[in-house]
Amino acid sequence: MATTENGEKEMVVLYPPPAMGHLVSMVELGRLFLHRGLAVTIVTVDPPLNTGSIAAFIARASAAHPGIAFHRLPPVDLPPNPSSHHLEALACALLRRSNSNLLAFLRSLSPAPRALVLDMFCLFALDVAVPLHLPCFLFYTSGAAALAVFLHLPSLDVACAPSSFRDLAGTPLSIPGVPPLPADHMCLALLDRDDDAYRGLVYLSNRMPDVKGIFINTFRELEPRALEAVTAGLCLTDGRSTPPVYPIGPLITERKTDGGGECLAWLDALPNASVVFLCFGSIGQFEEEQLREIATGLDRSGHRFLWVVRSPPSHDPSKRFEAPPEPDLDALLPDGFLERTRARGLVVKAWAPQSEVLRHAAVGGFVTHCGWNSVLEAVVAGVPMLGWPLYAEQRMNKVFLVEEMQVAAAVEGYEGLVPAEEIETKVRWLMESEGGRRLRERAADMKEMAAAAVGEAGSSQAALEELVAQLKGGKDNGEGVGNTES
Ligand SMILES: *[C@@H]1O[C@H](CO)[C@@H](O)[C@H](O)[C@H]1NC(C)=O
Repeated sequence: MATTENGEKEMVVLYPPPAMGHLVSMVELGRLFLHRGLAVTIVTVDPPLNTGSIAAFIARASAAHPGIAFHRLPPVDLPPNPSSHHLEALACALLRRSNSNLLAFLRSLSPAPRALVLDMFCLFALDVAVPLHLPCFLFYTSGAAALAVFLHLPSLDVACAPSSFRDLAGTPLSIPGVPPLPADHMCLALLDRDDDAYRGLVYLSNRMPDVKGIFINTFRELEPRALEAVTAGLCLTDGRSTPPVYPIGPLITERKTDGGGECLAWLDALPNASVVFLCFGSIGQFEEEQLREIATGLDRSGHRFLWVVRSPPSHDPSKRFEAPPEPDLDALLPDGFLERTRARGLVVKAWAPQSEVLRHAAVGGFVTHCGWNSVLEAVVAGVPMLGWPLYAEQRMNKVFLVEEMQVAAAVEGYEGLVPAEEIETKVRWLMESEGGRRLRERAADMKEMAAAAVGEAGSSQAALEELVAQLKGGKDNGEGVGNTES
């Protein structure tokens, strides 16, 4: 039964952090729940600093999905001089301090919600849910391999002490279900054990097994080994058991975007699989020197390209979180580059409709920062990737994409300045070589498997139905979430 005694729909509350990739996935999850007869409320907290794109995204999402209720928690004060420069530390401080506001909001809901679905960064809310007897689920918005790492993090924390992952450099970490992970490829925020971000993430990892179930934005066929290891409980130690795991992806935004018509019209005129698309996420930025190397590499490769360029990062700490100004392409890129490549290249400022571009037949390769949503968009579109990780957990993702999923090759040297020769070589390899052709075939196969997973009787579809049934029902037979309080 999807309704309460008085005939209203069962409601779930979803709680994402104010970080774009996480927020986008949570809204998609809300849409899926809504279509399956649940009432959905998404609780948001304002980003701590000026990041205009997030407020704009929430405004668009709430207009586009009138069936989903959005509720904004009041702002909280943050420590004035944070010792960590990692956004993860800021997110932890913000979300930890939002607990009392969240509690007040949840108490105000009538009838009471059926369950609380938390992003990893919002697991602080477990403390709020206990007094309310509200079952909590984790929606993990990156892949199963990254989840395996985080579930195993408390063990690694003990095993590696007193060293930091940064000090262990290339030492491979052994984590069940994933290929050997060089210690310096851990999440950037985890490299230094004395950092607040490290402490926050270890705390959150420790809380992961306290939920009633974990949904992941991935699918069985993409990450069979990591999913098996997680499900079998191999990533946890100390006798802790792993909650049920539901791979329900790929969840990506299919919504048509406004704007970006220039890119799509330009692609329309070009042969199939002939364009390399370069785009580095919602906050990825390169120094001017690196932009010039990329331009030179693309120029020399001779291949068609569509390149999204953002302004270099500001070195003024007070501007760190401000939206960067529009890039001045003539000043940033090498002399004559735009004229020379006009016939075969398009450079766009700051933004492109990435998902639509990837699904365009003319696109034959994707140079990506390895953010998980971007990875899934490429997988769904069947586009082979060149991984160039920048921030967050992207270095780990690069290892998994290349070594395990085999849907990408790496642009080497991303720890520092990547020279033009490497960019030229890798673009040529992808577009011209036998290895590149094999990667393209693998990407095409994975596209089929992704479509099957979310299609009728597919693995992700089945996991989602099971999950929704659990969220909706079972109040009386003891199988549902309502009776599983311990
Ligand atoms: C190009 O791709 C489209 C869409 O995938 C396909 O229908 C068409 O047959 C392809 N054209 C060529 C020449 O391969």
